[in-house]
Amino acid sequence: MSRRLRIGVLHGPNLNLLGRRDPAHYGELTLEALDRLLEERAESHGAELVFLQSNHEGELIDWLHEHMVDVEGWIVNPGALGHTSYALRDALAATGRPFVEVHLSNVYAREPFRGRSVLAEIALGVVAGFRARGYLIALDAMVDHLTSPVQGASG
Ligand code: DQA
Repeated sequence: MSRRLRIGVLHGPNLNLLGRRDPAHYGELTLEALDRLLEERAESHGAELVFLQSNHEGELIDWLHEHMVDVEGWIVNPGALGHTSYALRDALAATGRPFVEVHLSNVYAREPFRGRSVLAEIALGVVAGFRARGYLIALDAMVDHLTSPVQGASG
């Protein structure tokens, strides 16, 4: 019997503060509530999720290595590491799994440093500015990509 599609959801530094941190940019949902929404959506796709939030780059990288054998794709909100971390980029590339980069806020409408991502170039796609809904959009797109690839639609 084939096992369920499994997708890893990685939340980077400071995302543990969701709901309390700068709601004008990040919305009012807590990380726990966001993960619950994602669980429900995954369930509706017959998929399962594994989650990590960490404020530590090395821990994020170790977790990617640990799960690269048992997930088919990633949803990644790298937080500020997306602007700077070649180590996180290399780790994502090394997994050989596609990922969608997500930002809750519209990073292009904020300080100039936020408009630069060192991950985007190797991402399947990028979703920014839709608050928590962006993660659901990313999950739907990833499931679609993995299960019913339309020739030429997303690689
Ligand atoms: C963020 C945007 C980043 O610039 C910021 O450092 C974050 C959150 C977002 O979800 O909008 O931590 O990734």
